[in-house]
Amino acid sequence: MKILIINGPNLNMLGAREKEIYGEQTLADMNAEIAEFCAANGMETVFYQSNIEGELVGAVQSVISRFGADGIVLNAGAYTHYSHAIGDALACVKVPKVEVHISNVHARENFRHLSVLADNCNGVICGFGADSYKLACLAIKHILQRCAK
Ligand code: DQA
Repeated sequence: MKILIINGPNLNMLGAREKEIYGEQTLADMNAEIAEFCAANGMETVFYQSNIEGELVGAVQSVISRFGADGIVLNAGAYTHYSHAIGDALACVKVPKVEVHISNVHARENFRHLSVLADNCNGVICGFGADSYKLACLAIKHILQRCAK
C-alpha cells in the first residue's frame, strides 16, 4: 500500500515561514518523520511538492500512472480555499483522498474556513502539525482495508 503525499505552495518554506503557526520543522524533516511512521504502519510513501497550481493538478491526475500510489494526502496550502481546478482533479481520480492542514484553519482568518477541495475528499484533518498527515495516512489505510474485505 503506497500513499502519495502532496504539498502545495509555500510548504517548501516550512521551518522558515511563520514558525509560531507552522513550527520549526523543515518539509524534508517532516516528510522523513511521516515516512518513518508510515513504514512502521505498513505503508510506503511518495512525496511531491509544487508551488504551481497546474503541477498539483498533474500530480493528482497521475496518482496511479506516475506515482503508483493507492491514495492521496493533500495539503494544497492556500489553493485549498479557491482552486476549483484542483477540486476537479480530485473528482477525476478514484482513490481515497484526505485533505490535511498543519494549522487549525478554522481558528484562523475567515478566508481559510472555506475549502473547495473537501467535497471531493473522503475527509479533512487539520490542526495537528505533522500528525495531521500521519492520521490521514491511517485513515486511507483503513478505507483501503475496508474496501478489500
Ligand atoms: C495550510 C493552511 C492554509 O490556509 C495556508 O494557506 C497554508 C498552509 C496549513 O497547512 O495549515 O499554506 O494549508
